[in-house]
Amino acid sequence: MCGIVGATSARNITPILLEGLRRLEYRGYDSAGVAVLEGEAIEVRRAVGKVQALADALEADPLESHTGIAHTRWATHGKPTEANAHPHRSGHRLAVVHNGIIENYEALRRELKSAGFQFASETDTEVIAHLIAREMDQHDDFAKAFSHAVGHLEGAYALAAVTPSDPEALYLARMGSPLVIGISTEENYIASDPLALLQVTDRFIHLENGDLARVDRQGAHLFDLKGKELQREPERFAHEDQVANKGDYRHFMLKEIHEQPEAVANTLADKLGSHGVLTESLGPEANAILPKIENIHIIACGTSYHAGLVARYWIESISGIPVNVEVASEYRYREPVAPPNTLFIGISQSGETADTLAALRFAKENGYLQTLALCNMPGSTLVRESGLRLLTQAGIEIGVASTKAFTTQLTALYWLALALGRARGRLDKADEEKAVATLRALPRHMEVVLELEDEVKHIAEEFVDKQHALFLGRGTHYPIALEGALKLKEISYIHAEAYPAGELKHGPLALVDEDMPVVTVAPDDHLLGKLRSNLEEVRARGGQLINFIAENVDMQAGEGVINLKIPGMNDGTSPIIATLPLQLLAYHVALLKGTDVDKPRNLAKSVTVE
Ligand code: G6P
Repeated sequence: MCGIVGATSARNITPILLEGLRRLEYRGYDSAGVAVLEGEAIEVRRAVGKVQALADALEADPLESHTGIAHTRWATHGKPTEANAHPHRSGHRLAVVHNGIIENYEALRRELKSAGFQFASETDTEVIAHLIAREMDQHDDFAKAFSHAVGHLEGAYALAAVTPSDPEALYLARMGSPLVIGISTEENYIASDPLALLQVTDRFIHLENGDLARVDRQGAHLFDLKGKELQREPERFAHEDQVANKGDYRHFMLKEIHEQPEAVANTLADKLGSHGVLTESLGPEANAILPKIENIHIIACGTSYHAGLVARYWIESISGIPVNVEVASEYRYREPVAPPNTLFIGISQSGETADTLAALRFAKENGYLQTLALCNMPGSTLVRESGLRLLTQAGIEIGVASTKAFTTQLTALYWLALALGRARGRLDKADEEKAVATLRALPRHMEVVLELEDEVKHIAEEFVDKQHALFLGRGTHYPIALEGALKLKEISYIHAEAYPAGELKHGPLALVDEDMPVVTVAPDDHLLGKLRSNLEEVRARGGQLINFIAENVDMQAGEGVINLKIPGMNDGTSPIIATLPLQLLAYHVALLKGTDVDKPRNLAKSVTVE
């Protein structure tokens, strides 16, 4: 979603703000803005479109300042116009930036309008600016005015404000949306994500829900709504600073696709012993909890949800534990029932997805045995609030369409299925050793598959003039078909749907004709015979078939049928391997169509609002 960055320093902070916005741009990119203090004045520059548009505006009309805040927006209230871009001001008294949604903003707006405040935008954020200004009339101290105003807000927010009445300070509040303070020497920063600040510091204080803070050049002072002081220790952020660098790749997405063998190897590094799985990485409690688990609920959104769907097949077949998988936005508004000894697993690349966090909080209060976060960001809210943690080591993922985060999630989930199987006495030593060998070989197999990129590029040409595509799979490869369709629609804007192949004749077959490519992923498993019959049904209706199949599967090629044999699809980890050609396909179709691959329209990397 949106991104926030701020700084206070003896040097000019405008370049720090701009670089921070660039690093956050993948989170929201319909407009951007900056507000800095210049003496008694607040100077604002805003621009519609990418951060580069703001950079151009700043080049034409530069700003120099020691204290300021900046924002890159993903519109919720009001169109992406300059008037709606953050920061928002209340006269010359203060400026604010905000991530999240203020749920009571209409009532507050009415109240403030009748008190004489004039609104220049359609946003919920401008309400916050005027609310603080109103409280400034009641309190001499800006900290008091700020916290009284925050006390009136309902909903989710990460908030930052600057005011000429306290010209070296940044004021912050967090409820539901992430916010960190970056600590350095004689200058300090704030951001909605540590990534924005890795060029200037690696030490961060993570604000908790309900925290407020005043940050100046000397340090950070945290307090709650009642003014009580809070102690929060800074933590080091371990990721390498790899953000700004695409290397020789044209897009982050392509770079991230090719980083997958290494990301998977890194994810496995602390999870495999010489003969078996090591469960210590789950946390000290893990060995006591694993044998007690009788049910599992997996909750996630988007691509992470697809990882959960694959995991259901693995966990049920390897450990015999029943698994439910559900998207977080549905789960959180049902009244889910957890049978005794149910483990809650939240899967999230970012660990900040609003719906997944809400689901976790529900689970913590509703009788689950324990909660486990499967996450790529060790300092994220999901990890901090869960009982157990299973971390992937994908490195930072910038492309909005998730790639290496997904395959590392799958790797960790396959490993978890083995750990559960062993804990339940369902996995004997020989099978465990075999599975460990399969996992160890996975990065190598992935490298070989990525070498097929030129072939996939060729296949991508079939899609350029198409409006629709259908993806089919069975068993563990059905969720991979879902993921393939999601990738294609996200970045190429071709309408793509996925079906379990057995459902074909219950509806989607009606759509099949020569204008509808049908993509299939097929390992050599017990479902292959059935899948073949499904594909015959497509051929008989003139549908164009594109089959990504295991090496030893024989399928007749010819007019209307393209087969690409994918090595390494004969083991339990086949869904991970099968993902790669589908990612490459989506990428090359998008490239041919000329879309903005890393920043597809309307989407955001991390959805921190409902
Ligand atoms: C957004 C992203 C997706 C991601 C989903 C869940 O929709 O664009 O790539 O899969 O959020 O994000 P999470 O961080 O929870 O995995």
